[in-house]
Amino acid sequence: SLCRTVFHPLCMQYPPSVNYRRCFLSELIKKHESTPTEPLDELYEALADILNKEGSTHCYKSYLLPSGDAITLSESVAIISRGTTGLVTWDAALYLAEWAIECSTVFANRTILELGSGIGLTGIAICKVCKPKEYIFSDYHQCVLQQLMENINLNGFLYKPEAMNHGIVHSENQKAELKGKQGPNITIAELDWDSVTKEKLSELQADIVIAADVVYDPEITLSLIGVLQKLSSCKTDGKPPEVYIAFTIRNPDTYHQFQTELARISSPSINTVRPGFSTRHWAGRSLLGSGLGTFSWEILLDGQ
Ligand SMILES: C[S@@+](CC[C@H](N)C(=O)[O-])C[C@H]1O[C@@H](n2cnc3c(N)ncnc32)[C@H](O)[C@@H]1O
Repeated sequence: SLCRTVFHPLCMQYPPSVNYRRCFLSELIKKHESTPTEPLDELYEALADILNKEGSTHCYKSYLLPSGDAITLSESVAIISRGTTGLVTWDAALYLAEWAIECSTVFANRTILELGSGIGLTGIAICKVCKPKEYIFSDYHQCVLQQLMENINLNGFLYKPEAMNHGIVHSENQKAELKGKQGPNITIAELDWDSVTKEKLSELQADIVIAADVVYDPEITLSLIGVLQKLSSCKTDGKPPEVYIAFTIRNPDTYHQFQTELARISSPSINTVRPGFSTRHWAGRSLLGSGLGTFSWEILLDGQ
């Protein structure tokens, strides 16, 4: 079992956090000791080895896709670091990725804009599995954007930095590489919901807009609503984009505020939740290493 977990080639190359490995091995030893078998030296040696290691502020997490392919991300070990929540993968990102994999036709051959991408789990899963035409990752925090770029590279994709606020120029080499590559066109955009203009959003020509875990603070919710309102008047092939948002309901007040504000800006293109069809509660099922509990969450389907 060690070869399939702590000594798995993926974990050797991209190790999970020291703390996680300690807990995992202690648990494995406890389980083993509760069975009527001989103690296994390699378990104690592996634990002794990890007990001697210093913890770090960064770790890797690997998530297995149903195809057996893996996504590996460099993440922060703290849920809030450098003043942002964006340096870890949140449960809603995992759920949205799972949902996207199950409903991959929604994304096939479309242009997707992701708001508040964080370090990229959902988008990388969609790019690996759902065959989108173009995927635009976006966030506004510089450290998050930096980590996002690293993670996209780590998973074998090339990207084009979008000159949203700063004029980022591509090298000739980068342009040639982007032309010759397979798979979706990937862009990373610096996009702040508070300052992005309708014109900028229109230029992106998104068919689909997605976001995970972006409803967690009343102030942020208002900014999100602002950007959704602008998006509702952006048309691609004569239609506004479809919007899918996944979130964990931590505080019912914040959730209700989001629903109320969403209803307030309702237009033919942004509808409120359609109960039954559009609200799904998923619980428990997880990808490798996510350690999910049973959060309730929702996907809001809009514009359909
Ligand atoms: C809780 S994290 C979720 C990250 C990722 N989607 C996930 O679920 O793992 C919220 C993300 O929203 C981004 N965000 C917050 N306010 C924003 C704003 N005004 N404009 C753009 N992004 C914002 C943060 O930088 C952060 O990456």
